[in-house]
Amino acid sequence: MTADEGTFGSSGQELYRKARKIIPGGTQLLSKRPEMLLPNLWPSYYSRAKGVETWGLDGKKYIDMSYSAIGACILGFADPDVDEAVIDAIRKGSMSTLNCPEEVELAELLCNLHPWAENVRYARGGGEAMSVAVRIARAKTKRDKIAFCGYHGWHDWYLAANLAAEDALDGHLLPGLEPAGVPRGLRGTAIPFHYNRIDELEAIVSANKGDLAAIVSEPLRNYHPAPGFLERMREIATEIGAVLIFDEVSAAWRLNTGGAHLLYNVQPDMAVLAKAMSNGYPMAAIIGREDVMQAAQNSFISSTYWTERIGPTAALATIEKHRHCNVAEHLIRIGSAIQSGWQKAAERAGISIHVSGIPPLGHFDFEYTNAQEIRTLFTQIMLEKGYLATNAFYSSYAHSDHHVDCYLEEVERTFEVLVGAIEKGEVERLLKGPVAHTGFYRLA
Ligand SMILES: Cc1ncc(COP(=O)(O)O)c(C=O)c1O
Repeated sequence: MTADEGTFGSSGQELYRKARKIIPGGTQLLSKRPEMLLPNLWPSYYSRAKGVETWGLDGKKYIDMSYSAIGACILGFADPDVDEAVIDAIRKGSMSTLNCPEEVELAELLCNLHPWAENVRYARGGGEAMSVAVRIARAKTKRDKIAFCGYHGWHDWYLAANLAAEDALDGHLLPGLEPAGVPRGLRGTAIPFHYNRIDELEAIVSANKGDLAAIVSEPLRNYHPAPGFLERMREIATEIGAVLIFDEVSAAWRLNTGGAHLLYNVQPDMAVLAKAMSNGYPMAAIIGREDVMQAAQNSFISSTYWTERIGPTAALATIEKHRHCNVAEHLIRIGSAIQSGWQKAAERAGISIHVSGIPPLGHFDFEYTNAQEIRTLFTQIMLEKGYLATNAFYSSYAHSDHHVDCYLEEVERTFEVLVGAIEKGEVERLLKGPVAHTGFYRLA
């Protein structure tokens, strides 16, 4: 499956060079910037995607063993069942002056899956829905400050954390996010703590007790919660009258059908679901307790395309398939096989890596000082073999054991090449383009 030297990815890169001139930052999502994966060589654009396969603009086919659309396509690309439901919705009219009934059906389904939740609002993106949740929390409590850990999107409430200290968000998934354009008046309104560090949250609480509108956290991401962490967050929120918001944008639907918090039996006041809920069609839901959610009526939260029909239709079809096919079990099994396969391949090849993450959202780090150079070379070699691959793997229902076995064989061979390059000090020389970026940079 070796690609033609010199031609692979070329037309995608040509288009990307054009894009960088006309689209500031090149793309709409930092994680999809080719510079984040393999500068100058990443295929960058797709002409078609199906299951785990993606075709570049030059017609070359790749097996996606990377991010499965940055975690959005949990069933695989262009899932036939979800697409059929969506096509039917399009035929019936995706938009009208009236509302679509699917949003009521979806609200009932989400409340059934999360029995603590009584009300639902919708948006179409994860960060946008988080912003709605924070607005509702502020409206409910009539307070301004938010204590948070983790990444929650691009909106003012969140980036305000970086107005206080330039590196406040480092260690919260994406280092170096720039708050330019965020009003300086928001300084001090978003206060970060680290996941599993209840002592840090307690310190924030004692300094800001009567001012905290919400505590915002993912229920889990890279690690499971330390014993008592979620429970203590719950207690603190109740004690100080703040709203507890679980951001389930990435964690939900991976380990179970619904929010990951269901596994821990800790009930937030609000939870935000998005991304994988609708398998590639825009949809997001804010679910919550009635007494909190009703505060949405005291604020103005309203948008035309939050009423279209495709998002809720896709979500209903995705959730139905998720339940029926026990998708979470598949994601865990495939993700576990990849994680143990990485480890075994590394041991056999004699390369040092650290594997982490929950099985459906796994990743590994090369344990070397030039780790980013090595990771870039890994992506370059795997791309030449026909794989979209990096040091992360998000499993989908379309990933089969066969995909896993073929991929791991190539990973092991690639690790062997990397070991040789590391030993000879040749990693940089073997790179055909620049080293990949690690975080947010302004593109020249
Ligand atoms: C935990 C979490 N919250 C919020 C977001 C932002 O979601 P979106 O990119 O759909 O705006 C993400 C995206 O990766 C996320 O992982």
